[in-house]
Amino acid sequence: MRMQDFAVSYHAAAENVGLFRQVLEGCKLTASETLLLFTDTQFYPLYPAAFMAAAQDIGAEVIQMTVPSTLPDISSSYILAAWQEADLVIGMSQVPWLYSRTHDEARQSGTRALMVQEPISVLRRLSPDEDVRRRGRAGVPLLTAGKQMRITSANGTDFVVNKEGREAYTLYSLADEPGKWDHWPQGLVTFFADQGQGDGAIVVDPGTVYLKFRRHSTEPVKLHIREGSIVKFEGGAEARLLEDWFAQWNDPRSYELAHVGWGTEHRADWNVIGMDSEAYYGNFLVAFGRNIFWPVGGDNDVASHWDFCCLNHNIYVDDQIIVDNGAIIPENLK
Ligand SMILES: [Fe+2]
Repeated sequence: MRMQDFAVSYHAAAENVGLFRQVLEGCKLTASETLLLFTDTQFYPLYPAAFMAAAQDIGAEVIQMTVPSTLPDISSSYILAAWQEADLVIGMSQVPWLYSRTHDEARQSGTRALMVQEPISVLRRLSPDEDVRRRGRAGVPLLTAGKQMRITSANGTDFVVNKEGREAYTLYSLADEPGKWDHWPQGLVTFFADQGQGDGAIVVDPGTVYLKFRRHSTEPVKLHIREGSIVKFEGGAEARLLEDWFAQWNDPRSYELAHVGWGTEHRADWNVIGMDSEAYYGNFLVAFGRNIFWPVGGDNDVASHWDFCCLNHNIYVDDQIIVDNGAIIPENLK
C-alpha cells in the first residue's frame, strides 16, 4: 500500500459507506451473519471504519481484529478461530495472509474472504461489475475442461503447460460463495499448474508491468522454462534485476510456475500499476512461487510470489483460441 494515495481526513470514511455497503451486499452479507474486519496497525483506518458502518446498516454482526503490522504471518490459532467463526472476512492488512494455511482452513469451513487494500480511486473505478463476473464464471468450465494451455506471441513467446486434472478459478471482486476468496478489484480466469508442468519460453515485452518493482519494463527479457521452473533469464539489465529478485529467496521453489491465465477487467488502466495490471482485459498473467491456495493451488510455500502482467499475447486452451493478441475471442468470454 502506498499511504500517500489515501486521504487523512477521518470524514473520508463516511463517503465510502455506500460503495462499501454495495460490495458487502455483493458478497451476500446478511443480517444474520458475522463480518470480521481483519486489519493491522499500519493499515489506513478509514476502510475498516466504513465497512463497520456499512455492515451495521445491513444489520450484520461486525467485529474488527487489529494485529501488529510486524506479525510475520497469521498462523496464530486465535486468528484461525476468529476467521473460521466469521461468515465473511474483509482482509485489509499487509501481514501476509492470502497464500496461507489459516486462510485456506478458514475457507474450508465455509468462510468467504475478500481482500481490499487498493487506493479509493482504484476501488471506485473498478467496483464489482456484472460483465467481469459473467466473463469469469463462463471461463471456469472452459478452462477446467482443457487439457493444455499454450501461450504464444509475435515477439517469441511459445510456452505450453499441461493442465490435466487442474480446476480453473475466477476472480471478480466479490466473495459471494461459501469458501470463496476474491480481491477487490480483480478480474481473472486462471489455474494453478501441477509441479513440474510448463515448458518453453516467455518473452516479456517492453511495457510489461513488474508489480514488485512498481514500474513497466523497458526492454525484452526471455524467460526459459523447463519442467515448470524458470532456468534462465535472457536479456540485459532487467534480466539481471529479475535474476537478483528471484535469487534473494535462496529457494529453487521461487522459480516454479504458480498460476497462468487471462485478465477480464475491461475498465483496467495499463498506466495504473497494481490490480489494474493483473486484471487488464485480455492480458496474459503468469506467476511464479508460492501457490498454497485451497481448493485449486499447490504445496509450494516459498515466501516469494511474482506476477508477470503481459500484453499482446495469444492464449489457447487445447485447440481453441481464447486470446488473440490481447483480444478475447469466444463470444461468451468477451
Ligand atoms: Fe499472483
